[in-house]
Amino acid sequence: MNSRKITVVGAGNVGAATAHLAALENLGEIVLIDIVEGIAKGKALDLSEAGPVSGYDVKITGTTDWSVTAGSDIVIITSGLPRKPGMSRDDLLAKNTEIVKSVSEQIVKHCPDAYIIVVCNPLDAMVYATSKVTGFAKNKIMGMAGELDRARFCYFVASELGVSSLNVQAILMGGHGDDMVPLPRYSSVNGAPLTELIDPARLDGIIERTRKGGIEVVNLLGYSAYYAPAAGAVKMAKAILQDSKSLICCCAYCDSEYSAGGYFVGVPAILGNGGVEKIVTLDLNESEAALFKTSLDHVKSLTEKIDSLF
Ligand code: NAI
Ligand code: 2OP
Repeated sequence: MNSRKITVVGAGNVGAATAHLAALENLGEIVLIDIVEGIAKGKALDLSEAGPVSGYDVKITGTTDWSVTAGSDIVIITSGLPRKPGMSRDDLLAKNTEIVKSVSEQIVKHCPDAYIIVVCNPLDAMVYATSKVTGFAKNKIMGMAGELDRARFCYFVASELGVSSLNVQAILMGGHGDDMVPLPRYSSVNGAPLTELIDPARLDGIIERTRKGGIEVVNLLGYSAYYAPAAGAVKMAKAILQDSKSLICCCAYCDSEYSAGGYFVGVPAILGNGGVEKIVTLDLNESEAALFKTSLDHVKSLTEKIDSLF
């Protein structure tokens, strides 16, 4: 039996998919907590019943009671309103700040030693809100978005070139919004530079589709994506629990790095059993740096709104 414990807050689409993938990866005992008891308990029961079919045997508890989360190694926050067609992620700020505040207070009380992976939107601002309420060390708090956006970019590149998406490597920085910054200069197909393989106009189209990747799914489904977001969150949790020192694009605290000046924003970082162990600082050219600054300025303005909400 794996003795690690993962709490997933919010048993909705992203939360349930996260719990499922964490069980398939045998990451440890899982607690699924929601404000709606039936949803948490029902999904935990359904996931437990899938174990004998899928080949996992981990304890999965559904609850509304925070005391059950005590001793969690990782808490993944997916509780929050998702956007609907016509909404931007920023439209969720006020309501989701309220939710994140109450959840963070419970984390301080019941899981004081946990690493926290925030998923709810608007992502970078919600990571800041979590940090502000918990006061946890900055290396223990991070957000999942860069891995999702990076994966979308890789998938679109693979489709364009007719290669396996597993052969595409990419780096993507900035906030989780329409001004995110995919970096083709730091992306490749098994080492062959992307800039040599795709002409600039096609590449611009792929970058634009990546930036709008979230709303593309919302417009099809009527609600937001959850399989790929859950995969991103579980990849981060796994890197921490298994101390894999993986380079993962995620929202992390940056001060001197990229001249961010003390904000949580999307960057490549090394994740291991020290949480965010290192921000990887790449040399950005003039246009990449300008795009990152625009995205960071957007993150800063949303982050500053949080202070006025508390
Ligand atoms: P959902 O509506 O399916 O699930 C949200 C769940 O949170 C609901 O079951 C609700 O009852 C629960 N909840 C609300 N307040 C709570 C509280 N105080 N404590 C515990 N549970 C609470 O939404 P979905 O699709 O799972 O999305 C969740 C969040 O994740 C949204 O904010 C969405 O925008 C965000 N998201 C972020 C992504 C990213 O890349 N960072 C990707 C996809 C979604
Ligand atoms: C996404 O990018 C909604 O942020 C979510 O799919």
